Amino acid sequence: MSGTVLSTSEKALNVGLLGFGTVGSSFAEVLAASGRSDIRITHVYNRGIERKKTHERAKFVPSGAVWTENVDDVLTSPNVHLVVELMGGLDPIEGWLRTALNAGKHVVTANKQLIAYRGSDLFALAASKGVQLLYGAAVAGGVPVIPGMSQGLSGDKITRISGIVNGTCNFILSSMETGADYGEVLKKAQAAGYAEANPSADVDGFDARAKLCVLSRIALRAEINPDDVPAQTISHVSAIDFAYAKELGCTVRQVSRAQLDGDKISARVGPMLVPTTSPIAWSHGTQNMVVTSGKFGGDVVFSGHGAGGHPTAVAVTSDVLAIAEGSVGVRLPAKKVQVSGDVLAPHYLRFIVKDSPGIVAAIAGALAHVGINIDSILQHRGHTGDRLPFVVTTEPCLSSTLEKAVAEMSKMEFMVEPPQVMQILVVDDRDTD
Ligand code: HSE
Repeated sequence: MSGTVLSTSEKALNVGLLGFGTVGSSFAEVLAASGRSDIRITHVYNRGIERKKTHERAKFVPSGAVWTENVDDVLTSPNVHLVVELMGGLDPIEGWLRTALNAGKHVVTANKQLIAYRGSDLFALAASKGVQLLYGAAVAGGVPVIPGMSQGLSGDKITRISGIVNGTCNFILSSMETGADYGEVLKKAQAAGYAEANPSADVDGFDARAKLCVLSRIALRAEINPDDVPAQTISHVSAIDFAYAKELGCTVRQVSRAQLDGDKISARVGPMLVPTTSPIAWSHGTQNMVVTSGKFGGDVVFSGHGAGGHPTAVAVTSDVLAIAEGSVGVRLPAKKVQVSGDVLAPHYLRFIVKDSPGIVAAIAGALAHVGINIDSILQHRGHTGDRLPFVVTTEPCLSSTLEKAVAEMSKMEFMVEPPQVMQILVVDDRDTD
């Protein structure tokens, strides 16, 4: 530990910062730029603190702040009024934030996994202690989708949310759309600091589905367990899919989608074909895009930078300012809801086969066997017979029914790799509820 705690006055809001990485150090800069001398970082916790003190943004931390490798210096200090957590992960963070809340400190966090999995207990704890737990940076970085939904759309009855909430996947897929290679773009995203430490969290959809659950609690007032939401990887999307998607008037994006269906919710995360006329297709790079459909207000689109230090730090600073101003916001209760991953939609199936006569007949037979109607068959010329790609699109069908046909097709001896199946979004599938 070094330095001394800044003196407190009645009006000062002293901030204990957990994590001085990309977002933490950006928060120090953005908070300093707010010009609010009454809100001060008084404590910074991180491992390797001596190195952190030499960080180029360390200059934005007021001199005299305590830099420590002992988290208890922050959590138990009576001089800290608000803890900002920018480290991520469930454990040990949950225990740390419980300690802070129990000690009567406000908490601001960007931790989507924590809010998705343990949010309801933590909100109850915060309420019982008369303090605030805000998490505006947990979804879509600098895009105010969480405050926008919790406050601005609280008067509507939202029945569906869909969109792009993982900047890394959007960066990868929108770059592939213009010819980039999957592996190379993923490396670029990692180097730029967008990707999670383990890229599987991004590309396999785990990051997005945690965010979808955070949004569902606010917009649909539904508590859903992220583990119950099917997540499909984008790692099997290939250049050929963009070529066929284009022919269908679509592109490919990782879409997160949750829709209220009476007492149930259907929710899914994965690569989907998105019509180029949909706002979801317009997102490029790390841009996030969330579209809500409300019974009374219709569709609302939120978009902007979803990842990166400064955009995320804006959301964190906004939460800190809200607490400093005594804002309590709108709090509406959510209830536990059963999730189904089954959707009724047209689907895209892309096959890579070893060419021989009768393949289309065999695939059509597997679909007919479960009562699925083919909408189109697309095959570009010029590919070699040992890895021949072609595409079948279906009329709207239940994904669970299609899975049965795909399981049968996967066993067919001409299949060089498992079929790539993607839902096709329909641009005007508005709710009638
Ligand atoms: N890995 C996340 C993304 C960072 O790419 O969106 C922001 O949560």
